[in-house]
Amino acid sequence: MVKVDKNFVNTMYSVEGKVALVTGATGALGRVAAKAYGYAGAKVFLTGRNANKLQELVDEFQAEGIDCAFFAADPAKEEDVDALVKAAVEKYGRVDILFIAHGFNKPCNILEQSVADWQYIMDADCKSVYIVLKKVSEQMVAQLGGAEKVASGQGGKIVVVTSQRSKRGMAGYTGYCTSKGGADMMIASAACDLSAKYGININAICPTVFRSELTEWMFDPESAAYQNFLKREPIGRLAEPDDFVGYIIFLSSNASNFITGAACDCSGGYLVC
Ligand SMILES: NC(=O)c1ccc[n+]([C@@H]2O[C@H](COP(=O)([O-])OP(=O)(O)OC[C@H]3O[C@@H](n4cnc5c(N)ncnc54)[C@H](OP(=O)(O)O)[C@@H]3O)[C@@H](O)[C@H]2O)c1
Repeated sequence: MVKVDKNFVNTMYSVEGKVALVTGATGALGRVAAKAYGYAGAKVFLTGRNANKLQELVDEFQAEGIDCAFFAADPAKEEDVDALVKAAVEKYGRVDILFIAHGFNKPCNILEQSVADWQYIMDADCKSVYIVLKKVSEQMVAQLGGAEKVASGQGGKIVVVTSQRSKRGMAGYTGYCTSKGGADMMIASAACDLSAKYGININAICPTVFRSELTEWMFDPESAAYQNFLKREPIGRLAEPDDFVGYIIFLSSNASNFITGAACDCSGGYLVC
């Protein structure tokens, strides 16, 4: 248990000097999260499948003074993830924070969807989360050097982006909702495996729609999609990736040491109406 003193309160949101591994770093939220960790003084190890985009990001971040590097990997392939963790440890010696922000969807009515397409979504959004979560957790446990009981949050912080769709169904979403719901349950179960003994906190954040290349079309205020969404968004607008930075830093820092296994709402109030 942490004793609350002035120093703890003044530093509880700090991720300074930590090593943060970010998947889906080439995506809308992964990019913002990676930059936020960098601005907050963390060393950032970026990954995604697209090496060219990752190189561009690293160039951009380094020009802003962020200590970062990348390794291209497919999170659904075990051998890629093994190589990714090895590369991160070779570069920075350890991994303190894992932020999982890769994801994929291809909506399709179940009657028209092929089993292969459904499986692809499951692999991209659920199996891949398992592989990255498992491999990075193994690394975090190894870093403890056999310590028997580690204080909450001191073994590492893992934050996984799932979705409000992990909690409710939607037409054409038998792949996406199932995989995101599975990821939420995976996080809850992994927290039971890892938090008490190894001090690794694992949480999901569950957004509704935020701006990305894929969702940009929904942000036209005149569109029916936008208007319909607003009826269920008490906060009065759809989200930008930047809206989640506070939550991400909170869940990655000592401020959230007593939170684990949670699927955290960050939906602008979507849940309550
Ligand atoms: N945008 C939204 O409205 C919204 C709402 C709720 C939840 N989410 C979830 O939030 C996370 C981030 O979303 P985002 O909008 O920032 O995503 P995004 O901009 O679409 O980027 C996601 C990244 O994931 C990687 N990716 C794409 N397909 C993949 C696959 N088949 N396997 C592995 N990686 C793949 C891509 O990087 P590479 O091509 O470099 O691998 C891509 O840059 C995702 O998990 C998404 O499901 C999004």
